[in-house]
Amino acid sequence: MIIALRDVVEDDLPTLFEHQYDPVAYTMAAYAPRERDAFMEHWAMILANPEVTKKSILLGGEVVGDMVRFERAGLQEIGYWIGREHWGKGIASEALTRFLDLEPVRPLYAIVAEHNIASHRVLEKCGFTLMDRNYESTDLPGPDAVDYLFMLAASGAG
Ligand SMILES: CC(C)(COP(=O)(O)OP(=O)(O)OC[C@H]1O[C@@H](n2cnc3c(N)ncnc32)[C@H](O)[C@@H]1OP(=O)(O)O)[C@@H](O)C(=O)NCCC(=O)NCCS
Repeated sequence: MIIALRDVVEDDLPTLFEHQYDPVAYTMAAYAPRERDAFMEHWAMILANPEVTKKSILLGGEVVGDMVRFERAGLQEIGYWIGREHWGKGIASEALTRFLDLEPVRPLYAIVAEHNIASHRVLEKCGFTLMDRNYESTDLPGPDAVDYLFMLAASGAG
């Protein structure tokens, strides 16, 4: 499977909106989806912010997901989302492997709902370690869920 990462552009946003508006997906992610206007406003801020790394994931030229690195509550965090029709093909695992090659910031963190086993696997396969099985943060969007905190340390630091 040949995927590519490139910077997110405005034309990608309708597709990314649909991905996060999918009830199966947002339940899996324990995430509160944004309505279209709020989503577009949120992404306008992200696109204007040079401190955020934001990549679209392309398969055969089609946008199938996205991957971002941003700061929240003092942690450099990653997030990712794949359109449901493309789940289970290894796309997230391959995209994260590539993302980590181009994103030098460490340590990196990921906050994942306890029940989101696929996402746990993606992180573990890419070298992240489970740090906390009940991570508490007031900053997280979405319904109450038990969250796991994963970390990727600086290379060589364990
Ligand atoms: C989580 C998500 C990114 C996984 O994407 P994907 O491209 O399907 O993942 P991959 O195909 O690379 O699979 C990763 C691993 O999870 C496993 N997996 C996939 N779906 C699974 C499921 N429903 N239950 C358990 N394991 C699952 C795969 O078997 C694979 O493990 P393996 O290599 O040991 O076999 C995708 O489902 C998604 O975008 N979900 C909605 C948004 C979300 O949850 N984002 C992450 C928030 S932290």
